[in-house]
Amino acid sequence: MSDPAPTEGLSTLLHEQRTFPPSAEFTAQANGQAELFEQAEADRLGFWADQARRYVQWEQDFSEVLDWSDAPFAKWFVGGTLNACVNAVDRHVEAGNGDRVAIHWVGEPEGDTRDITYAELHQEVQKAANALADLGVGKGDTVAIYLPMIPEAAIAMLACARLGAPHSVVFGGFSAEALHSRIDDAGSKVVITSDGGYRRGKPSALKPAVDAALNHDDNPVEHVLVVQRTGQDVDWTEGRDVWWHDAVGQAADTHEAEAFDAEHPLFILYTSGTTGKPKGIMHTTGGYLVQTAFTNHVVHDVHPDSDVYWCTADIGWVTGHSYIVYGPMTLGATQVMYEGTPDTPHQGRFWEIVQDLKVTVLYTAPTAIRTFMKWGSDIPEKFDLSSLRVLGSVGEPINPEAWMWYRENIGGDSAPIVDTWWQTETGAIMISPLPGVTAARPGSAMRPIPGISAQVVDDMGEPVGNDSGGYLVLTEPWPSMLRGIWGDPQRYKDTYWSRFDGVYFAGDGAKLDEDGNIWVVGRVDDVMNVSGHRMSTSEIESALVSHPKVAEAAVVGAADDTTGQAICAFVILREDAVQEADEEGEGQDLVAELRNHVAKEIGPIAKPRQIMIVPELPKTRSGKIMRRLLKDVAENRTVGDVTTLADSSVMDLITQGLQGGGD
Ligand code: PRX
Repeated sequence: MSDPAPTEGLSTLLHEQRTFPPSAEFTAQANGQAELFEQAEADRLGFWADQARRYVQWEQDFSEVLDWSDAPFAKWFVGGTLNACVNAVDRHVEAGNGDRVAIHWVGEPEGDTRDITYAELHQEVQKAANALADLGVGKGDTVAIYLPMIPEAAIAMLACARLGAPHSVVFGGFSAEALHSRIDDAGSKVVITSDGGYRRGKPSALKPAVDAALNHDDNPVEHVLVVQRTGQDVDWTEGRDVWWHDAVGQAADTHEAEAFDAEHPLFILYTSGTTGKPKGIMHTTGGYLVQTAFTNHVVHDVHPDSDVYWCTADIGWVTGHSYIVYGPMTLGATQVMYEGTPDTPHQGRFWEIVQDLKVTVLYTAPTAIRTFMKWGSDIPEKFDLSSLRVLGSVGEPINPEAWMWYRENIGGDSAPIVDTWWQTETGAIMISPLPGVTAARPGSAMRPIPGISAQVVDDMGEPVGNDSGGYLVLTEPWPSMLRGIWGDPQRYKDTYWSRFDGVYFAGDGAKLDEDGNIWVVGRVDDVMNVSGHRMSTSEIESALVSHPKVAEAAVVGAADDTTGQAICAFVILREDAVQEADEEGEGQDLVAELRNHVAKEIGPIAKPRQIMIVPELPKTRSGKIMRRLLKDVAENRTVGDVTTLADSSVMDLITQGLQGGGD
């Protein structure tokens, strides 16, 4: 099912010798101290029970830490009851911190800002919960959320959590088709959206995609709740569509929250797998809150009473769920939420926000860091970044050069960097330095955090030694682990628990350096990581093949200096389309048409960087496409071993054809 464990580049990475220990001053104030490792080592479940009681307010205490008798279906904190929204909002107000800013919201248009305190948030989530309840949403109903980065996105999620209604947030960059399939799969009764949001200086519409997504006979949606953000014109379906400002504006501002079982579903989040059908990753309440809050405290070192934390992710991805909404808010932290892109209206926008709001902890992605590097260090130099004291990285491997640039140009050569490895499925950070403990090495996510067990294993599942590469596995269950794939328990078992006996297979290749530090090097399955966004090769292939002119398609992720990987597609046209293209010289138009088709089927984020029209695809005798060879072509390398191809001349045909044209 997967390619061989990666070994390329192993030797260069393993020669990285620089280490950056925290200062004594940083360590003295750090939330995460070395004892955590000892405590977790001595009694792993006891350790998690302690964290559960420390970070989360339980309505009813749990009686058992972990029930793993029905593995791989875990139950954490058995018998405990709680409300996630009460944990993230109400209790901070009850503790007297209602005046603390929860969200410094920064809109993309300059000067468009809003500060929301915990007391205000409390009022908003209660009103939103009442409004949703009036629309018929109750415990167990799923709600789709398709919103830009506006406070209502967090409020909507929390209001759903308050009602025990699992939310399914769909990233605003996904198309109507992608939204439709997610709404259908989750059976969502209500969709929360907006007229649009601001992107690159312009209003960008969202509501039309929802209208198109619901333009199917059997859709389960009863109501669409619409936030007015841009004021642009929207089509309106009477009886179905409701303005947020009407429904939430008029709703009562008190709402009695019910406590739910620790294992009550909190949300579904769709992510790409190795087939064309996205997986609805399901997370539950208790364990997820415990581990997101714990990690935000000890890994990002967030001190809720003094830090200004900023996670730049979109709420549509798991990073936004865990480290904008549930982790920081469960801690009662103050954070920045930004609507727009880093270069609007100028390339210093991030640094201006850091300076103006005195951001202390910044969590972003390597692709953003590499983009800032490209724009030049003179841009951040113009701003006062001295407030920054911890920097984080997530979503893809960070190369040592980008790591050093981040430290020197953003972190004032002193802020510890936490390179945090985790996944939609893991729910929270799993492998990372602790900033007050670990002497970090540029490019390595270092070690599992306290309470987490990971290994790098070979094909047979045996741990590899230091200085070697293999597959990354997690050897013990953890509190924020996915509890399954929505509606597909078998796929859950097959995907994660069948490659190696009894351990979780992450789908990533990793290496251990001579000191046993972990270097995650990327996916070993047919999943790409483009700008930190997970994309499935087969999902994009299905989108291409659904175009009437396409007979067959193969997609690979090619190395890209900025985005990590870039989507490259090889396409065989149907006979009549080939003739047409030849006659009318329409090759380039066709490539543009296919790219737009992918954007329509999945979303603009899935548009291939390159589409190459080819006469054949390289296949083995059993018909499997040899992506490795296509990757060689996409990365401009000499094509590797072709001996297992059914027809070894195919690669010549492809490369010759491309020299003569292509995209
Ligand atoms: O390949 C790994 C990469 O991102 C994948 C998970 O993607 P997703 O579920 O979208 O979640 C992204 C945000 C947590 C992983 O399988 N990845 C994530 N963090 C790192 C990473 N690769 C290397 N280093 C990281 N720190």
